[in-house]
Amino acid sequence: MNFHIMTLFPEMVTECLSSSIIGRAKEKGLISLNAVNIRDYSNDTKHHKVDDYTYGGGAGMLMQAQPIYDCYIDIKNKISAANGKAPRVIYVTPQGKVFNQSIVTELAQEENLVFLCGHYEGVDERVLEEIVTDYISIGDYVLTGGELPAMVMIDAISRFVPGVLNNNESAMTDSFHNNLLEYPQYSRPEEWMGKKVPPILLSGDHKKVDEWRLEQSIIRTKERRPDLYEAWLAENPPVEKKKKRRKKEVSEDNGGEK
Ligand code: ADE
Repeated sequence: MNFHIMTLFPEMVTECLSSSIIGRAKEKGLISLNAVNIRDYSNDTKHHKVDDYTYGGGAGMLMQAQPIYDCYIDIKNKISAANGKAPRVIYVTPQGKVFNQSIVTELAQEENLVFLCGHYEGVDERVLEEIVTDYISIGDYVLTGGELPAMVMIDAISRFVPGVLNNNESAMTDSFHNNLLEYPQYSRPEEWMGKKVPPILLSGDHKKVDEWRLEQSIIRTKERRPDLYEAWLAENPPVEKKKKRRKKEVSEDNGGEK
């Protein structure tokens, strides 16, 4: 997976994503990070200016279309020279749809992803119309720039690139898999500050441990994220309901006969 980040602060991205699991994935060649400075594409050879006043008035400066467009075309041409298809271009913005695990797994299927990081008061709408395929936010709050949101997304997506996580760090058993939060976990010692590890986890009975974990996941999700719990419930109706639904389907198959 190749990440291309269009930014005014490339060092912010490369420095932040150089350690731990993502740094290791980069060293192993499982992912690549191509942080490109939009300023290098400015037509203003003297000051490398990339922003200007907003038509119609208003506070603050806007990032201009031309340097962003030229930067994108350069990235796209390099991808195409390496036989890649035109990439999805994500504009990270509080005006986008809110990032979640299903967007993560969808984007993880791509070979190349381009991120556009905005600054100042935003970006000239015309270049967004021209190049952006996805508008994505990391939550309903406003940050000073798009680098942190882009890094959040790159981190989450990289976890789904084969080989990035080892077996102990499996992406599939985490919180949000199947709309359930992860169950509580414990390590040594067996007792700490008078709190004991739940005895079932010491029993060695894997079936019982799995049942307990699922039950804890459900309780935790219901308590902390009722929205996710409802989604899980819709996918996993209680057994009684399932039986009734099956009965109804059989009756319908028989032309409504009871
Ligand atoms: N840029 C500024 N705030 C943002 C947010 N919440 N999500 C994505 N990009 C942003």
